Amino acid sequence: MSASVYIPPHPRPLEKRLPLRETIRRGRESFLALYYADQYERDWFASRILLRPMFFCNSPDTVREAFIDKAALIERKSPQMRHALEPLLGDGLFISDGLVWKARRRTVQAATHVSRIAELIPVMTEVVEEWVRSWEARAGQEIDILADMAELTSEIICRALFGRQLGSRARRVVVEAFTAYQAKVEQMDVASLVGLPDWFPRFQGLRVGREARHIQRVVGELVDAILAAPEGEGSLIRAMAEAGTMSRDGFRNEAATLFMAGHETTANTLAWAWWLLANAPWEAEALRAEADAALGGRVASHEDLPNLPRARAVIEETLRLYPPVPVLAREASDATTIAGQPIAKGTMVAISLWLLHRHRKWWQRPDHFEPERFLPGAAPVDRYSYVPFSLGPRVCTGMHFGLYEAIIALSGLAQRFTVSALPGHEAFPVARLTTRPGAELRMRLDRRAA
Ligand code: HEM
Repeated sequence: MSASVYIPPHPRPLEKRLPLRETIRRGRESFLALYYADQYERDWFASRILLRPMFFCNSPDTVREAFIDKAALIERKSPQMRHALEPLLGDGLFISDGLVWKARRRTVQAATHVSRIAELIPVMTEVVEEWVRSWEARAGQEIDILADMAELTSEIICRALFGRQLGSRARRVVVEAFTAYQAKVEQMDVASLVGLPDWFPRFQGLRVGREARHIQRVVGELVDAILAAPEGEGSLIRAMAEAGTMSRDGFRNEAATLFMAGHETTANTLAWAWWLLANAPWEAEALRAEADAALGGRVASHEDLPNLPRARAVIEETLRLYPPVPVLAREASDATTIAGQPIAKGTMVAISLWLLHRHRKWWQRPDHFEPERFLPGAAPVDRYSYVPFSLGPRVCTGMHFGLYEAIIALSGLAQRFTVSALPGHEAFPVARLTTRPGAELRMRLDRRAA
């Protein structure tokens, strides 16, 4: 256990039931504000919002039963997720199901697979080296660490996806297009939440259409340029083209999926990690000591990763406390049971990663920041009570990419810089499509004291 203690910010659990109107109002802001105290202790719970029955798996047994044993029945993404992302991703992997998902999954997985990670890491190292130089120039200033980490991870995913030259040139326009889309789409889809059918017109669908078409045009042009030049530099698009065939729209939708799935998740993780380290300086010191010994001032490359267990533990603990994807939600395609409870066809079956990762039974000191629990030699963490990258057939295909990217960025930058909280400023988690520390997170950047 740590000699010192830090309990990072989290909403206070609710003690009494809220009326529907208040549930929807608060849910639009952040659904972390909707959890009741008893839900941090239950193995499962069922609830209903008007027409929509919901079942939350909240124990290792129920998580395994629904997402592994019964994965074939509980495969389809929730209607909220599909309606939020369909205009943008079309039949992209993140929201497709059935045969389309199966075929695409093989191709996307081949491109992002851990066996290719050694080829993908040099881009991460190179971009973090550029960031060291950029932070040198900005030392002593206040920065929005959330926006800064989003720039860093978008630079990495764009170079990985589209190749170094094209990716770097395209980043700004791709990021601007996605940000505009997300700002419009992030409202809670109340029609789906209360159980209205798919054909029911959704107001947000009209508003987001224009932004989605813009992104499709931008990403489509990049994909066309890559596929038209077979001798061009290596990229995830090219690796997908070598792994399988799909239509031009298929490539475009998978490229948009990889960009969307792969950049904000890692950016949020890194922003939270900086916040946690700023407030637990003894953990920051231990991380720096490890990086000094393993890297001696360099930015990590592939071979260095086994020598950075503490940086990895900080990232894993950050993913436990602030899981970037806050809820895994599916729709049951037929009637079934979970924990012996009847589940009707159409029920939304979900895991709240927030509740599972802070569950009073499965974790000791669940709200404390204690990276030590993930260090080699600590008691093993139950694999079904910690699932920041999901589990089962739909597990994140970019898991190693995201994890290694975060370790390389954190260890590389923490060796030379400190990022500290501004007086009187407290980050607070907000969860809609992802869990973020609000719209921005202003912190102070300094060179590390000699
Ligand atoms: C810290 C970083 C990341 C986290 C926490 C994360 C988390 C997740 C989670 C929880 C899911 C499943 C969602 C669900 O089951 O409803 C997912 C899916 C996915 N992720 Fe990640 N992800 C990260 C980084 C990445 C990166 C870097 C990439 C690509 C390079 C990526 C690509 C994908 C794809 C393609 C899917 C869809 C898989 C499918 O449905 O078959 N992710 N991710």
